Amino acid sequence: MKEFNAKKFVKEQINEIKQVIGNEKAVIAVSGGVDSSTCAVLVHQAIGDNLICVILDDAFMREGEPEKVAELLSQPPLNLPMRIERVQERFLTALRGLRDAEEKRKAFRKTFYETLSDIAKKEGSMFLVQGTILADIIETKGGIKTQHNVLEQIGISTRELYGFKVVEPLVTLLKHQVRQVARYLKIPPEISERQPFPGPGLSVRVVGEITLDKLAALKKATSAVENNLSKHDPSQYFAAIINNEEIYPRPNLRGLVDLTARYLELSQMNVWIKVLADKATGMKQKARRYGEIAAVTCRKDSGELYQPDYKDLNGLQKRILSKMRSATRVLYEIGEGDKKQPYVVVVRAVKTEDFLKAQVAEIPWPTLQETASQILKECPNVSSVYYDITPKPPATIEME
Ligand code: XMP
Repeated sequence: MKEFNAKKFVKEQINEIKQVIGNEKAVIAVSGGVDSSTCAVLVHQAIGDNLICVILDDAFMREGEPEKVAELLSQPPLNLPMRIERVQERFLTALRGLRDAEEKRKAFRKTFYETLSDIAKKEGSMFLVQGTILADIIETKGGIKTQHNVLEQIGISTRELYGFKVVEPLVTLLKHQVRQVARYLKIPPEISERQPFPGPGLSVRVVGEITLDKLAALKKATSAVENNLSKHDPSQYFAAIINNEEIYPRPNLRGLVDLTARYLELSQMNVWIKVLADKATGMKQKARRYGEIAAVTCRKDSGELYQPDYKDLNGLQKRILSKMRSATRVLYEIGEGDKKQPYVVVVRAVKTEDFLKAQVAEIPWPTLQETASQILKECPNVSSVYYDITPKPPATIEME
């Protein structure tokens, strides 16, 4: 394969963007992630301050993130003309009461584009610039999920619906090539090397219905996971939150308990499995699949949570998923609090090159344990903390 040349790519794109946008204004929504930031810097080099860079403070960014991103991108060497739009209520209202992952994604996408359309109209701009990359298109077209930023490629006319034309300079690149372009453009490593954060933000990590208390607990858990796991350098690592509700009626899980006990050489009395009421996304034969979540708790005879090695955890998830065809995820308990509390938190950490496939990151147990204790202490409405032990496939990286 031919080596990717960032310098040549930037030169060609700047010429093309100048031709397409000319002296018109363009709007870009910047999240601070590597794709949208690189895209903004590239287009800013082509059309200067005719590019209006907005951060949508949509309620689903992390603690203090809109302000941090605005500061980083507006100062030298990047000097982007940044602006924060406070639109939390608009997004929270649009997603209120929705429980299904795909419905939430579609509601997010609609509100995202309607908000940007309003901004573009106010600014007299007919172009919307987006940092869409190749993986976004492959996965949306492949039916894995509705990416929030893929429209024209699936036949939605943005000009008719929202009054703007979409410009996507990074659409031929994979993530590692975007990072090469970012480094070439001298974008600071806080951004060029940053782990991905999905456009719909924390909304895809609040599994099921989004409520304010659930979202607030997730923000705290997210900070704990990011602070504790960064030293182990996984490709992506985050927290998700799910209702602590079991599927009803409770299925007979005897076979799974036996299998787990036998495989880990534990007594059946020390194994507990539940199936959660909410579902999570996964992949089967390259298509998106919405499946059940099995949550496993194993103890030593002393009552403490049992900590198997990663080879055994991997073998366990394979065996459980091959027996339980309706499931796409296996979670393994790493910290327990008051079991009556309404939510559980999932810690997810993966190793991956292209984000199309991913392995579970082998985070040392002491780090997982400390992270779980911190989450339980800071989030009194969380009953347990689990580690997601499912690779992609059969799971996806995000829970929704
Ligand atoms: P999944 O969950 O599909 O995620 O395995 C693969 C990568 O894509 C990110 N992701 C998104 N990024 N808009 C984005 O900009 C989205 O809707 C979206 N959904 C997932 C995810 O964080 C991971 O890096």
